[in-house]
Amino acid sequence: IPVDPFDLVVFGGTGDLARRKILPALFRRFCAGQTPQEARVIGAARSDMDDDQYRHFVAEAIAEFNDHFHHEEDDLQDFLSSLSYVKIDALGDEGWSELATKMHPGRVRAFYFSVGPSLFGPLAERLHSHGMADQDTRIVVEKPFGRDLETARALNRSLADHFSEDQIYRIDHYLGKETVQNLMAIRFGNMLFEPLWNSQYVDHIQITVAETVGVQGRGEYYDRSGAMRDMVQNHLMQLLCLIAMEPPSKFEPDSVRDEKLKVIRALDPVEPEDIVRGQYLAKDDRAGYLEDVGDPHSTTESFIAMKLHLSNWRWAATPFYLRTGKRMRARSSEIAVVFKETPHSIFDDEAGRHRNILNIRLQPNEGIDLDVTIKEPGPGGMRLVDVPLDMTFTEALGPEAENVSDAYERLIMDVIRGNQTLFMRGDEVEAAWAWTDPIIADWETRGSKPVPYESGSSGPEESLMLMHHDGRRWREVR
Ligand code: BG6
Repeated sequence: IPVDPFDLVVFGGTGDLARRKILPALFRRFCAGQTPQEARVIGAARSDMDDDQYRHFVAEAIAEFNDHFHHEEDDLQDFLSSLSYVKIDALGDEGWSELATKMHPGRVRAFYFSVGPSLFGPLAERLHSHGMADQDTRIVVEKPFGRDLETARALNRSLADHFSEDQIYRIDHYLGKETVQNLMAIRFGNMLFEPLWNSQYVDHIQITVAETVGVQGRGEYYDRSGAMRDMVQNHLMQLLCLIAMEPPSKFEPDSVRDEKLKVIRALDPVEPEDIVRGQYLAKDDRAGYLEDVGDPHSTTESFIAMKLHLSNWRWAATPFYLRTGKRMRARSSEIAVVFKETPHSIFDDEAGRHRNILNIRLQPNEGIDLDVTIKEPGPGGMRLVDVPLDMTFTEALGPEAENVSDAYERLIMDVIRGNQTLFMRGDEVEAAWAWTDPIIADWETRGSKPVPYESGSSGPEESLMLMHHDGRRWREVR
């Protein structure tokens, strides 16, 4: 469905995120006919550039980051002609009057803050003082949204001075991923799962977000953050919320966000022995973590595994195991809901006891599979075997499913449409930090050090033991 014409200003318009994600995503939506020809995208940054130079910059970004995407040359030229550039000083006066002249009255106006959080407040203030903010104005902010509760609160306050909560779109790009949204469809669009979705039937839930990349030239940022701040506080927390929340009454922003907030608030503090932190080692010609970040003494974690408990009626007796890390064996993100064993086996001991596992594959190879126990074929008696009922979305839905849009395409269009369902509310972000802070503070007090793990592995041995001690095991990272 096409959106109305809009003006979108990308602060940090020459930055890495703009180049890799925002501008290519806008181009793809343009080619899909979702954004109209009259829409205007204005890059704003510190560099000296004119409109033509900016168009050239964007054309290069599109060539580099849209490599599998086929487009017509005419589309590219039309898209480029909708772009312009303003040199701006986020902390001074330069460029602001020029930017104001580019706005079209009566249109939806969105300002994407693709800049460090220290500029959120100053940008919000200048938009206001230069008369560019009205009731229909939206601002989009990226992570990291602070580095602890105090800084997140300060950011929320500085935005709230000039914009109301329903104008602020805090991005967690995991919420824009197709399969993450599918998680809600699976849970709340089927009768099959929800009645079993509780401690009575679910033994435990595993969430794995494994990456093969290292810190990718972002060593300075990453070393100040670590896996806990970079991934757990936001992406994994969002996945946990969607898998554990109560059914919202409607698929609407506050219904969904209220339920997510309740999950975060129900999280128990985590015991130190329920956390494993790791750091990847060098392998072959690939550097180890310490070399990648240029600090031989760094104690920041590039891997974390943890066991969590939720103190609520639904989940009190079901542990949640989370793990995420860089330089692991495969790029693979999945959520496995591991059901309990049947209460009694009518078959003899040889048949063994079996359990169903619902595995939601977020990426790659998006789909779900459900392990079901059946009789092993053949005359050899009643032997049981687990087989997956596999639904790979591209197979089930055909080529349409291969056109999965990038998270940013979906999220930017939601901003233009004014739909906040897939964005984080201020109180959610603060609650997530309130839970994260004591864990990090405890590491600092105890001088906790991550354990080394082999690059290309499933993480440190200790993380396997975390499950093993409970008589459970992680699914393989494949
Ligand atoms: C980002 C993190 O938010 O998410 C990165 O800062 C991480 O460190 C990335 O690599 C993972 O996103 P995706 O979409 O590749 O799973």
